[in-house]
Amino acid sequence: MLQDPDDTYIATIAAHCDLLGKEVLEVGCGTGRITRDLARHAARVVAVDPDKGALAKARATAPAATVRFLPMPDGVLDFPPASFDVVIYTLSLHHVPPDQMDESLRTAAGLLREGGVIVVVEPDEGGSFTEAKERFGAGSGDERPAREAAIRAMHGLEGWSVGETVRFRVRFLFADEDDFIASKLPGFGEQPEAHRRTVREFLARHRTAEGIVLDAGRRLNVLRRGSLQLIAGRTAQEFNQRKVRLHGREMPADQENKSVQLQTVGPIRSVPGVDLERCFIRSPSPDCRSSREGSGRAQNVA
Ligand SMILES: C[S@@+](CC[C@H](N)C(=O)[O-])C[C@H]1O[C@@H](n2cnc3c(N)ncnc32)[C@H](O)[C@@H]1O
Repeated sequence: MLQDPDDTYIATIAAHCDLLGKEVLEVGCGTGRITRDLARHAARVVAVDPDKGALAKARATAPAATVRFLPMPDGVLDFPPASFDVVIYTLSLHHVPPDQMDESLRTAAGLLREGGVIVVVEPDEGGSFTEAKERFGAGSGDERPAREAAIRAMHGLEGWSVGETVRFRVRFLFADEDDFIASKLPGFGEQPEAHRRTVREFLARHRTAEGIVLDAGRRLNVLRRGSLQLIAGRTAQEFNQRKVRLHGREMPADQENKSVQLQTVGPIRSVPGVDLERCFIRSPSPDCRSSREGSGRAQNVA
């Protein structure tokens, strides 16, 4: 099995979070699959996981001098305050017991320096691999309740705002049906024949020249200090005509930069060149599923 042969995770993370020269804490690094990619961008990566077996594998395969793999007994993040620029949860927040998710995020927030961000990558709906998990219990099975709890926790982090949800797909390549069954469906042989036939028919529909190719939806959010609310205002089109200045750089206020602006400025009192009373913004959705669009004034409510 080959997961993410296209390196979509790191491409998406690096496109939405500046890692260059940053000190990064990766929470729930597992066997270090994404740690290796983070280390190619960041100055230093500390990667933690409560699973000692996974950490041993990670240490064996990710020897970069700038990476440290550390145990995380009882899921506790034990570092001095303000130690990092970025804390990233890579498909791990939904593995934190639901009653500990809030605390995990609160602790992560306390480990960040001024201007630091939390990046959360989570499974999303959609994709044939996700279908196999939900229908047949493949891999870690149906993760919808855990995923929704993770997203709720993210939106509940007091004093922080959740940026726009970035949705993407990752691919999984399996040599053949048996490769998928061996790696994702232990106990397959004991299943009733009708079920086994259904699984094989499903896999046959995804057979290509490369083997069995499945995909899964993923989502990424960047959390920043400060929060926003919508009040009233103009349309996206009108906002798009403007230019905004962000950290001294002038950039077009296009769809992407609009969210960058809102996520990056933090406590928004003024943005040179932008009339905040008449701009279009996105705000974190209270239903925890997607961003809600609206016309409005950005008001700092932090
Ligand atoms: C699906 S794996 C993701 C591993 C890795 N980040 C990746 O993308 O390949 C989820 C990881 O979360 C870890 N985990 C479980 N409980 C945790 C907790 N309380 N805090 C942080 N990570 C946890 C698991 O040990 C596991 O390695």
